[in-house]
Amino acid sequence: MTQRAITDPVIPDKEEVRAEWTSRARYWDRWADQVADMAGRFNAPLLDALELRPGHNVLDLACGTGEPALSAARRVAPGGLVVATDLVRAMLDSVRRRAGDLGIANLACEQADMERLPFPDARFDRATCRFGIMFVPDAIGALREARRVLVPGGRIGLLVWGPIEDTTIMTAIRAASRKVLGVDGRQFDHPFRFGADGALDAALRAAGFHAVAERALRFAPEIPADRPFWQPMLEMTLGPRIGEAGAQARAQLDGEIRAQLAGNLDGGRYRLQVHVRLATGAA
Ligand SMILES: C[S@@+](CC[C@H](N)C(=O)[O-])C[C@H]1O[C@@H](n2cnc3c(N)ncnc32)[C@H](O)[C@@H]1O
Repeated sequence: MTQRAITDPVIPDKEEVRAEWTSRARYWDRWADQVADMAGRFNAPLLDALELRPGHNVLDLACGTGEPALSAARRVAPGGLVVATDLVRAMLDSVRRRAGDLGIANLACEQADMERLPFPDARFDRATCRFGIMFVPDAIGALREARRVLVPGGRIGLLVWGPIEDTTIMTAIRAASRKVLGVDGRQFDHPFRFGADGALDAALRAAGFHAVAERALRFAPEIPADRPFWQPMLEMTLGPRIGEAGAQARAQLDGEIRAQLAGNLDGGRYRLQVHVRLATGAA
């Protein structure tokens, strides 16, 4: 993918991004604890790849409700600290609540735009960003900022979605929300803009990282079909829109997602595909 494609102008501007995520924050807080196990399956390979160890200072960019910041904090104790950052204050309130509930004390929260980090050079040993870099208009600029605040040789790890077609539930949500709510399918373009093989690798190199490596992580979850397992993903993606549309639209959405997933039903279980991409680089 070319640098021009990576910085595709379909990304909404910063204040639109902030407003959008502020409106979604209460849905993220509502579901954060219940999806923590699933989140852990994504966090483990990311944190393993960075070889986190006690004493490391870690910066988590676009932390949302605390993934992977909370898991990282456990790995760097004792002696290490995680600074969890996000553009949206309400997300950080959720991280503080979760850290308190989990008894995690070596974690600090700071509101920060990853395009302009409020930290001195060489402040951190590691940086993480899970499902965040795609929302930044100038992704390469943000990665340069991350490199600036890492010690020389410090490492970054990023996780993004692969192509949307490779993640069954997101394809189903896109189709159902288009049909029931009239959501413009392009809303689903930018979250997947680093999905192509080599796109993250190219962005990290363009930002000056070396020893860059990118790989696919594929999961094949099998989920009992007796409940609407998509509820967290649906509400975290479209909660404000569904809230406005009302209960009837919500029921229609569930029905449409069920129809979309019918081909994946086998012996009372949904057999799904998930594709995320993991890239690491050294400052
Ligand atoms: C998909 S969520 C990912 C949250 C978390 N890392 C996770 O994986 O669960 C994207 C997050 O990016 C944040 N975000 C968007 N633009 C940002 C920016 N310029 N700087 C920092 N955070 C940003 C949003 O507020 C939101 O919390």
